[in-house]
Amino acid sequence: MYLSKDTWFPLYIYGPNLILPTSSTVKMKITITETSNLSKIDFNNLGFGAGLSDHVFVCEFKNGNWGEGRIEPYSHLSQGLGLHALHYGQAVFEGQKAYRQKDDTIAIFRPERNWKRLNTSAKRMLIPEVPKDIFMDGLTELIRVDAKWVPRGENQSLYLRPFLFSSSEFVAARPSEEYTFAIVTSPVGELYSKPVKVKIEQSFTRAASGGVGYAKAAGNYGASFLATHNAVKEGFNQVLWTDHAEHNYLEEAGTMNVTFVINGKLITPILSDRILAGITRDSILILAKEWNIAVEERRIKVDELIAALKNGTLNEAFGMGTAAVVSQINGIGFNDEIFPVPVPKNGIALRMKEALSSIRYGESEDKFNWMHHVKS
Ligand code: COI
Repeated sequence: MYLSKDTWFPLYIYGPNLILPTSSTVKMKITITETSNLSKIDFNNLGFGAGLSDHVFVCEFKNGNWGEGRIEPYSHLSQGLGLHALHYGQAVFEGQKAYRQKDDTIAIFRPERNWKRLNTSAKRMLIPEVPKDIFMDGLTELIRVDAKWVPRGENQSLYLRPFLFSSSEFVAARPSEEYTFAIVTSPVGELYSKPVKVKIEQSFTRAASGGVGYAKAAGNYGASFLATHNAVKEGFNQVLWTDHAEHNYLEEAGTMNVTFVINGKLITPILSDRILAGITRDSILILAKEWNIAVEERRIKVDELIAALKNGTLNEAFGMGTAAVVSQINGIGFNDEIFPVPVPKNGIALRMKEALSSIRYGESEDKFNWMHHVKS
């Protein structure tokens, strides 16, 4: 039954075939689309990040305050070409996922960690922090409105992309006065459905000490595309970044943190201001400790990895990220050589992938309280 196109908290979300009480604690205007794009999505061939869901959440910061949030049909920006973010790149984002549970409800994986990290990134870029209730209510109400977009297939989820950008319109080189926080979502499958080959990068640099490497700043990704493009042309999937000073130490890969299993020990680069503090990385380290796997977070020399590749002590290597989930690495390129990496079927990578997946889809106990259940 179609009752009304618009409604305000704390009433109900009304729309074609939809009536939902809102659970939001922040005031929010909700406008439901009359032309859904859901039927255009091929849920059997999702890939990663192409089709965007029907609705978006938007909240603006003006005159020193965050305003009321709104959920509205996906649309275009109505701003001029003086948009500050386009000129000076005050823009940060998050990547997270909502999962269809075994009982058909929906839950989000560790969303408060993404909220905290968004604000860590925001602080570094001199962007006002997003209050927790705006982030959490915006996210959960948006998922409730677009619940039909949360897929049901194996390894599928609804990718959530909160982002925050400077939205004043001027070209003076100073911080923006206005900012926009928005969330778009996209039903996704796996980013990498097969093991990946990575190239140890020896000339380009992703991040320098004192810079913005630890922030999920939009420009970090834009700046990495050339090196990745070159690596892809050489037959790799991703770049394995090394330190800015001498390219002697391993840092992270383009879309994921990395870990190496050497002589049964899980060794991953220690976080620094040049490395993104991955939430999947953190979850895997928690599980590894729980499983009594020896874990070392420390600096790892390129030479140490190459020696382990040559003497056969590298048992496996894998990437960890929201989009990448757990991606086995089957080859590492260095100095024009490609070293094959074992991809064991019963190794740590696939066991971690399975364990995370069963928690995320509600198939096993959520011992660490990682899942945030969205009220249906
Ligand atoms: C994520 O894993 O969510 C990312 O942000 C990596 C990439 C898709 C940009």
